[in-house]
Amino acid sequence: MGNGTLAILVNSAMQNWLPSRWKARFDAECPGRRVVLLPDGALDPADVHYAAVWKPRPGELAAFRNLRVIFNLGAGVDALMADRSLPDVPLVRVSVGDLTDRMTEYVVLHVLMHHRQELYLRESQRAKRWEPKYQWAASALTVGIMGLGTLGAASARALRALGFRVVGWSRSAKQIDGIACFHGADGLDAFLRQSNILVCLLPLTPDTQHVLNRDVFAKLNRDSPLGAPVIVNAGRGALQNEPDILRALDDGTLGAASLDVFETEPLPQDSPFWSHPKVVLTPHNAADTDADEISKYVAAQITRFESGGALENVVDRTRGY
Ligand code: NAP
Ligand code: GLV
Repeated sequence: MGNGTLAILVNSAMQNWLPSRWKARFDAECPGRRVVLLPDGALDPADVHYAAVWKPRPGELAAFRNLRVIFNLGAGVDALMADRSLPDVPLVRVSVGDLTDRMTEYVVLHVLMHHRQELYLRESQRAKRWEPKYQWAASALTVGIMGLGTLGAASARALRALGFRVVGWSRSAKQIDGIACFHGADGLDAFLRQSNILVCLLPLTPDTQHVLNRDVFAKLNRDSPLGAPVIVNAGRGALQNEPDILRALDDGTLGAASLDVFETEPLPQDSPFWSHPKVVLTPHNAADTDADEISKYVAAQITRFESGGALENVVDRTRGY
């Protein structure tokens, strides 16, 4: 099948996306293959057989007419799905233990933070106030996980192991030991009515945009020691209606929100989320893509593909994830 060039295209100024690091990792993992960082004025686009990309801008991959596979360097492919000129070749997403473990850490951290009343306790510390409130058991809360794929299913299991009641919601029916699973539009209300903490690990697609909205918040369960329900979004910013979240926090429909992702990233300086007392904010780092792990994953897929094997974790473009 030939030893075509692997082109790397990374559009991010964040520290963990340093293009030179990705280049060094792919050079090490793909011996004998030419690896180039885009943009590269000397490159003949016809030489490129593989592209490893993060957030390519619409049109940036269109010139590579001999492309065989596109590897997205993260789990979410929404940036690629928005590109009408994306070459019609298999698109592979990340689904690896390293990224899953990182997301599980984030979800467990934030669910525990709200369950263990950390916002109140930090405020008490600052006020030098020794006033512990009643602390309930994990089994007093139901965590609802939206999205039971690679990341959602792992988080659901970890929370279950800690003693939380866990319910989940996905597009198609699922069976996971110890987790009550709901699916489809018909299953959404029953799922929400049980959830005290709602964790969103959905992909961003036309069907899921703004799924975290006021109607959904109003249906969450308020009959737990937590009182007002809490949301945790580590999927994508456009899954949430941001004015609805702010209103719901201010009128008590929601008790708190942990948000890792936002409609506009980096979050603008004047966003009210930065200083909202009920918001725990992280800068889209719930689950970093690790260059060591992911370069190995992509290199192994290329080797398998070139010896006639099947690619893994290929995106279904009709579903959008
Ligand atoms: P995945 O394995 O593809 O799982 C997606 C889940 O969402 C599946 O269970 C799917 O249902 C469900 N789903 C999709 N559309 C739905 C709909 N319309 N209604 C109900 N359920 C729907 O994806 P993943 O690897 O778990 O990743 C999930 C997302 O996490 C990514 O797309 C990305 O946006 C985000 N992410 C964020 C970070 C971060 O640092 N913040 C890091 C990595 C990933 P089925 O099972 O029925 O298909
Ligand atoms: C990160 O946001 C990812 O999609 O992997």
